[in-house]
Amino acid sequence: MPCKRYKNKRSIMTNKNPFDILRKEHDKVLKILDNLESNLNKKDINQSKNNINLLQKEFNKHSLNKEEKVLFPEIEKFMPREGGPTGMMIIEHKDLTESIDMFSNERDSNKLADIGNHIINLLREHIDKENNMLFMMAEMHLDNKQKEIIIKKFKGIDLKK
Ligand SMILES: [Fe+2]
Repeated sequence: MPCKRYKNKRSIMTNKNPFDILRKEHDKVLKILDNLESNLNKKDINQSKNNINLLQKEFNKHSLNKEEKVLFPEIEKFMPREGGPTGMMIIEHKDLTESIDMFSNERDSNKLADIGNHIINLLREHIDKENNMLFMMAEMHLDNKQKEIIIKKFKGIDLKK
C-alpha cells in the first residue's frame, strides 16, 4: 500500500513539472532533425522542406512562445537576461528563426545542405544546453506556484494552434 501511494503522488508531481513538458517537446524536435539530416543526405529537397515546415511550427510554439514568453521571464526574476543564459538562448533562437526562414526560401541544393546542417548542429547543441544547464538551474529556483502558473500558460499556447 505505501508503495502505491508513493507511485500516485509521484505521478501527480510529474504532471506539475513544466520541464518534463519542454523536454518531451525537445525529443520531438530532435526526431525532426534526424529526419531532416537523413533527407538532406539523400538530397531529397521535397521531404527536407516538409521537415523544415514541421520544425518551424514546433519551434514557434515551443521556443518563441513557451520558452521566451512564459518560462524565461520567470527565470529572469532570479537571473538577469543580459549576460545570462536566457540572453544567450534568445540570441540562438534568433539565429535559428532566421536560418529556418532562409531554408524555406532557398532552392539551391548546396545552399540548402549548408543552411540545414547549420540548423541541425546549432539546435542539437542548443537543446543540450537547455536540458542540462538552463532547466536544471531553473528547476532549483522556481517554486511550485510558479511552475503551476507556467503550466497553465503552456496550456493556453497549445489551445491557440
Ligand atoms: Fe527549448
